[in-house]
Amino acid sequence: MNLPKIEDLDFQDKKVLLRADLDIDVPKDGIGRLEALLPTLKILTQKAAKITIIGHKGRPEGRELKELSLDTVSVALEKLLVQEWGEEKVKNIDLEVSENLRFDSGEVENNEHYAEDLAEDCDVYINEAFAASHRKHASIIRLPELLPSAAGLRFIEEVENLEKVLKDPKRPVLLIIGGIKKDKLDYLEDFKKFADKILIGGRLPEYMPEEINDKKLLVAKLIMDKEDITIHAIEKFEEEISKAGTIVVAGPMGKCEEEGHMMGTKRVFKAIADSQAYKLAGGGETQKTISILGLTEKFDWISVGGGASLEFLAKGTLPGIEALLN
Ligand code: 3PG
Repeated sequence: MNLPKIEDLDFQDKKVLLRADLDIDVPKDGIGRLEALLPTLKILTQKAAKITIIGHKGRPEGRELKELSLDTVSVALEKLLVQEWGEEKVKNIDLEVSENLRFDSGEVENNEHYAEDLAEDCDVYINEAFAASHRKHASIIRLPELLPSAAGLRFIEEVENLEKVLKDPKRPVLLIIGGIKKDKLDYLEDFKKFADKILIGGRLPEYMPEEINDKKLLVAKLIMDKEDITIHAIEKFEEEISKAGTIVVAGPMGKCEEEGHMMGTKRVFKAIADSQAYKLAGGGETQKTISILGLTEKFDWISVGGGASLEFLAKGTLPGIEALLN
């Protein structure tokens, strides 16, 4: 995929509009998404005159909700930059984080005038928000029409690593989906095109039919309170994991933040980490869980995007990618 790169963009002394993944609750969610931003920020700060970072948090639906303000994210980013680059350097950078884009309904509605306002006074646009690039929102798909644009360094790495699952992967390819967001199941038919087996855990079995006659699908049974998968399901998942050549995991197997409901996630994630397969994980919650379990180093790639990485695997592209390519 020939995405436009930052190196090909002239941003010397220019004002850069940088769309980032800021959808995190700090400190609860950790700062993985901010760390993912650092390589691009480093390049930009070497030449750009000014950097305006834009992003969203949560789903405020056009309302200005204090709890969804990006203030805390902005503070966390500054702290991270000082830690990485030192106070002196950070003081000399012209960088600001704008308020949550979704406080204005124009963002989600992909409003033309809203996008024009964002682009005003800026010279170039960079998309470093892979996790939001499955959304047809103004800051993702309309800004590249208005300004010379490029994909961020992390964005390009995301695409390259996910493409490894689609292009000549080591087989069998195993997809494990969990968590609570049931829209992951919308892509089931597309998933079957690249995955040899799909394991379904977390809350998702609740949304599946009782009887399934599909050899590719293995749906976990849940324990009584529905907050974890059963021991039998864990064992079946472990067996499939031991045979896999490529594994993609998106979402925990249960309410793993609770001691009594972490067994499914712990055992399944540990089995993945111990396997010889090419291992890829996606999503904020998954990333955090892998980090808590101390398994980060065992994965070949951990995507910042959950929904976005799954949609990319399902469709081979994303609206945000198409916008940069056109
Ligand atoms: C995410 O956290 O997955 C992205 O920020 C997308 O958020 P959304 O599902 O609210 O569009």
